Amino acid sequence: MRVMTRPIDGQKPGTSGLRKKTKLFMSDGYLENFIQSVFDATGGATGRTYVVGGDGRYFNDSAAQVILKMAAANGAKRVIVGRNALLSTPAASHLIRLNRTDGGLILSASHNPGGPDEDFGVKFNTANGGPAPEAVTEAIFARTGEIREYFVADDNDVDLSRIGTQQIGGMEVSVIDPVADYAALMESLFDFDKIRAMFAGGFRMRFDAMCAVTGPYAREILERRLGAEPGTVVNAEPLPDFGGLHPDPNPTWARALMDEMFGPDAPDFGAASDGDGDRNMVVGRGIYVSPSDSLAVLAANARLAPGYRAGLKGVARSMPTSAAVDRVAAALGIAAYETPTGWKFFGNLLDAGRATLCGEESFGAGSDHVREKDGLWAVLLWLNILAERKESVAEILNAHWRLFGRNYYSRHDYEALSVEVATGVMGGLRGKLAGLPGQIVEGMKVIAADDFAYTDPVDGSVARGQGLRVVFEGGSRLVMRLSGTGTEGATLRLYLERFVAGPDGLGDAVQEALAPMIRAAEALAGIRTATGREGPDVIT
Ligand code: G1P
Ligand code: ZN
Repeated sequence: MRVMTRPIDGQKPGTSGLRKKTKLFMSDGYLENFIQSVFDATGGATGRTYVVGGDGRYFNDSAAQVILKMAAANGAKRVIVGRNALLSTPAASHLIRLNRTDGGLILSASHNPGGPDEDFGVKFNTANGGPAPEAVTEAIFARTGEIREYFVADDNDVDLSRIGTQQIGGMEVSVIDPVADYAALMESLFDFDKIRAMFAGGFRMRFDAMCAVTGPYAREILERRLGAEPGTVVNAEPLPDFGGLHPDPNPTWARALMDEMFGPDAPDFGAASDGDGDRNMVVGRGIYVSPSDSLAVLAANARLAPGYRAGLKGVARSMPTSAAVDRVAAALGIAAYETPTGWKFFGNLLDAGRATLCGEESFGAGSDHVREKDGLWAVLLWLNILAERKESVAEILNAHWRLFGRNYYSRHDYEALSVEVATGVMGGLRGKLAGLPGQIVEGMKVIAADDFAYTDPVDGSVARGQGLRVVFEGGSRLVMRLSGTGTEGATLRLYLERFVAGPDGLGDAVQEALAPMIRAAEALAGIRTATGREGPDVIT
């Protein structure tokens, strides 16, 4: 059935797909226009195969039905969809690759809350399993500005609770177990026997799935296959509103896990994941592991896991992520790449075999096993390392810092600012950058300052305006950028990093260790003055 439509403003994919208020997504033609634009901008759906699934948030199931009907009406050959339209983002990426499909549509607003008054999102991934690169998302956006019609099959809903093959408007729909192929991939990368033996020996863990999509994956892998005590995985049932939780695995939103890990009789290891399962937070007994440190430790120890025995080809991190992993790469004699924020920038490096491990400060880590970050993968690599080293998380981290030095690191977010104020603060600092090198700020000498631009070493594409950075002598840095994933107003992110070599005596009070950086940021950018805020809304 052909439906006449008109372009809808603002359907511009951000850092990670199109993310908007759920009600907007549910409004007349909104989802349909975007999906049709994806098909149109990528050469049409005729004869193609896709993977479809999402994180189970409110509207996930109805949106999946719309997409199936649209894929059918656009002539697609087959869609592989997770049971009940559930698929974690890394599992979707794996299925795209495993089945050599033409791409996938992932329904998620990641770590943003879900529900009728919260957020929804759609992300298009290409045949390599990764988020569509900018050239593709720009073509999709351009198409949303021209669209006049969309196609949707006039058919009944598919029964997505039933595993097996069904037909809709001449298209095959394969409803699959969302966990099975992903779990098999994890078994191929990690030493499950060793991890199982560690659990059998009394190792205790808590995994907070935050009522989001990772629950079924974590239960199957940690409890059933690895023998972790039943109940290890909490908040394991994916719920449309994530049980009212904010499914963002960080010390603020995963408070219960933090309290348990810092409380009496804490388990040996704690972890949490986000709405769609691509983010992770790991915590040891009484010690928090910052994502940038986690990436560095994973890189330094990856060879302990069977899937990485041959060593790493290189590592990549987003620009705001701390440089901790760079020094591991230097010690290993491998390349370290610095990319703009967003997983899509890692795709070419992974495809070209230049990098094996990638990570971001925003609780994202992953490898070339898929083309997305992967929360449970990071947790399993940690477990494999713990099983091999037979040391605590604290011992491993402290040994790492002794060897490589420590990058004290924190991100300060100022949320829901007016766009004028946020762009004003950015503009203010941008205007000063050229004059900064050589200046002394808070007793520290600036050695470089720029608006980060990235030239992809594989295809030569250039991404500009990727964040303001001020680099000080000795490796400390300030970075400032605007979020590209928010759905309301503007979020200003200030990234603070202070490098201290060797045993430093600064202790674990990160915000105190960063005090000079915080003062330098205020002196240079005047965020508090401009926003009238006492301090950041979220500190990670
Ligand atoms: C945020 C993170 C970024 C991550 C993205 C998707 O984007 O900062 O690292 O890739 O979410 O999970 P931002 O809101 O900063 O644009
Ligand atoms: Zn996510």
